[in-house]
Amino acid sequence: MIYITRRERFNAAHRLFRPEYSDEKNLEIFGKCSNPNWHGHNYELFVTVKGEIDPATGFLLNLKKLSVIIREKVIHKLDHKNINLEVDFMQGKLASTENLAVGIWKELSPHISNLSAQLHCVKVVESENNFVEYFGE
Ligand code: NI
Repeated sequence: MIYITRRERFNAAHRLFRPEYSDEKNLEIFGKCSNPNWHGHNYELFVTVKGEIDPATGFLLNLKKLSVIIREKVIHKLDHKNINLEVDFMQGKLASTENLAVGIWKELSPHISNLSAQLHCVKVVESENNFVEYFGE
Protein backbone atom coordinates (compact mmCIF):
# COMPACT_ATOMS: atom_id res chain seq x y z
CA MET A 1 0.00 0.00 0.00
CA ILE A 2 1.31 3.41 -0.94
CA TYR A 3 0.02 6.86 -0.11
CA ILE A 4 0.20 10.03 -2.14
CA THR A 5 -0.97 13.53 -1.29
CA ARG A 6 -2.09 16.37 -3.49
CA ARG A 7 -2.21 19.90 -2.11
CA GLU A 8 -4.64 22.51 -3.33
CA ARG A 9 -5.40 25.95 -1.94
CA PHE A 10 -8.48 28.10 -1.65
CA ASN A 11 -9.46 31.38 -0.07
CA ALA A 12 -12.88 31.61 1.51
CA ALA A 13 -14.95 33.59 3.97
CA HIS A 14 -16.94 32.23 6.86
CA ARG A 15 -18.47 32.99 10.19
CA LEU A 16 -18.80 30.60 13.10
CA PHE A 17 -21.95 31.39 15.03
CA ARG A 18 -25.30 30.13 16.19
CA PRO A 19 -28.06 32.57 15.25
CA GLU A 20 -29.89 31.99 18.53
CA TYR A 21 -26.86 33.20 20.52
CA SER A 22 -25.97 36.83 21.21
CA ASP A 23 -22.85 38.27 19.57
CA GLU A 24 -21.20 38.13 23.02
CA LYS A 25 -21.96 34.45 23.49
CA ASN A 26 -20.82 33.66 19.94
CA LEU A 27 -17.57 35.50 20.64
CA GLU A 28 -17.08 33.54 23.83
CA ILE A 29 -17.61 30.18 22.11
CA PHE A 30 -16.25 30.74 18.61
CA GLY A 31 -13.68 33.49 19.20
CA LYS A 32 -12.60 35.76 16.38
CA CYS A 33 -14.21 33.45 13.83
CA SER A 34 -17.60 34.69 15.11
CA ASN A 35 -17.05 38.21 13.72
CA PRO A 36 -20.53 39.30 12.52
CA ASN A 37 -19.05 40.95 9.42
CA TRP A 38 -17.34 37.79 8.16
CA HIS A 39 -13.61 37.20 7.62
CA GLY A 40 -11.50 35.00 5.41
CA HIS A 41 -8.86 32.31 5.62
CA ASN A 42 -6.22 31.16 3.17
CA TYR A 43 -7.02 27.48 3.42
CA GLU A 44 -4.83 24.63 2.30
CA LEU A 45 -6.34 21.27 1.43
CA PHE A 46 -4.26 18.08 1.46
CA VAL A 47 -5.96 15.07 -0.09
CA THR A 48 -4.20 11.75 0.56
CA VAL A 49 -5.16 8.66 -1.42
CA LYS A 50 -3.88 5.11 -1.06
CA GLY A 51 -3.58 2.03 -3.21
CA GLU A 52 -1.14 -0.18 -5.04
CA ILE A 53 1.54 0.91 -7.49
CA ASP A 54 0.64 0.17 -11.11
CA PRO A 55 3.65 -1.78 -12.45
CA ALA A 56 3.02 -0.38 -15.94
CA THR A 57 3.48 3.24 -14.85
CA GLY A 58 5.18 3.11 -11.45
CA PHE A 59 2.41 5.41 -10.25
CA LEU A 60 -0.38 4.89 -7.77
CA LEU A 61 -2.66 6.96 -9.97
CA ASN A 62 -2.67 9.81 -12.41
CA LEU A 63 -2.11 12.85 -10.17
CA LYS A 64 -3.38 15.15 -12.87
CA LYS A 65 -6.74 13.37 -12.77
CA LEU A 66 -6.81 13.61 -8.98
CA SER A 67 -6.08 17.31 -9.17
CA VAL A 68 -8.88 17.85 -11.69
CA ILE A 69 -11.38 16.02 -9.46
CA ILE A 70 -10.37 18.03 -6.39
CA ARG A 71 -10.59 21.29 -8.28
CA GLU A 72 -13.91 20.48 -10.00
CA LYS A 73 -15.71 18.96 -7.03
CA VAL A 74 -14.37 21.08 -4.18
CA ILE A 75 -12.05 24.00 -4.94
CA HIS A 76 -14.34 25.44 -7.58
CA LYS A 77 -17.18 25.51 -5.03
CA LEU A 78 -15.08 27.04 -2.23
CA ASP A 79 -12.53 29.42 -3.70
CA HIS A 80 -13.40 33.08 -3.14
CA LYS A 81 -16.79 32.05 -1.75
CA ASN A 82 -18.63 32.52 1.50
CA ILE A 83 -18.75 29.05 3.05
CA ASN A 84 -21.87 29.83 5.11
CA LEU A 85 -23.88 31.24 2.21
CA GLU A 86 -22.60 29.85 -1.08
CA VAL A 87 -21.22 26.34 -0.67
CA ASP A 88 -23.90 23.72 -1.34
CA PHE A 89 -22.33 20.92 0.68
CA MET A 90 -21.97 23.17 3.75
CA GLN A 91 -25.56 24.36 3.89
CA GLY A 92 -27.14 23.87 7.31
CA LYS A 93 -23.79 23.17 8.97
CA LEU A 94 -21.52 25.27 11.14
CA ALA A 95 -18.69 26.45 8.88
CA SER A 96 -15.96 24.93 11.05
CA THR A 97 -12.79 23.38 9.71
CA GLU A 98 -13.99 20.05 11.11
CA ASN A 99 -17.27 20.16 9.19
CA LEU A 100 -15.43 21.38 6.12
CA ALA A 101 -13.10 18.36 6.18
CA VAL A 102 -16.06 15.96 6.48
CA GLY A 103 -17.95 17.78 3.73
CA ILE A 104 -14.95 17.68 1.39
CA TRP A 105 -14.51 13.96 2.09
CA LYS A 106 -18.13 13.29 1.11
CA GLU A 107 -17.76 15.32 -2.09
CA LEU A 108 -14.54 13.58 -3.14
CA SER A 109 -14.79 9.97 -2.08
CA PRO A 110 -17.20 8.67 -4.76
CA HIS A 111 -15.03 10.17 -7.51
CA ILE A 112 -11.74 8.91 -6.16
CA SER A 113 -12.88 5.30 -6.12
CA ASN A 114 -13.10 5.65 -9.92
CA LEU A 115 -9.33 6.26 -10.03
CA SER A 116 -8.19 2.84 -8.78
CA ALA A 117 -7.31 4.40 -5.43
CA GLN A 118 -9.06 4.99 -2.13
CA LEU A 119 -9.41 8.21 -0.24
CA HIS A 120 -7.31 8.03 2.93
CA CYS A 121 -7.26 11.48 4.49
CA VAL A 122 -8.65 14.96 3.96
CA LYS A 123 -6.58 17.54 5.79
CA VAL A 124 -7.78 21.13 5.93
CA VAL A 125 -5.35 23.76 7.16
CA GLU A 126 -7.16 26.88 8.32
CA SER A 127 -4.19 28.76 9.68
CA GLU A 128 -0.53 28.25 10.39
CA ASN A 129 -1.31 26.64 13.73
CA ASN A 130 -4.67 24.93 13.18
CA PHE A 131 -5.56 22.05 10.94
CA VAL A 132 -8.01 19.16 10.87
CA GLU A 133 -7.61 15.66 9.49
CA TYR A 134 -10.52 13.37 8.62
CA PHE A 135 -10.08 9.71 7.77
CA GLY A 136 -13.69 8.90 6.90
CA GLU A 137 -14.97 7.69 10.27
NI1 NI B 1 -12.36 31.83 10.86
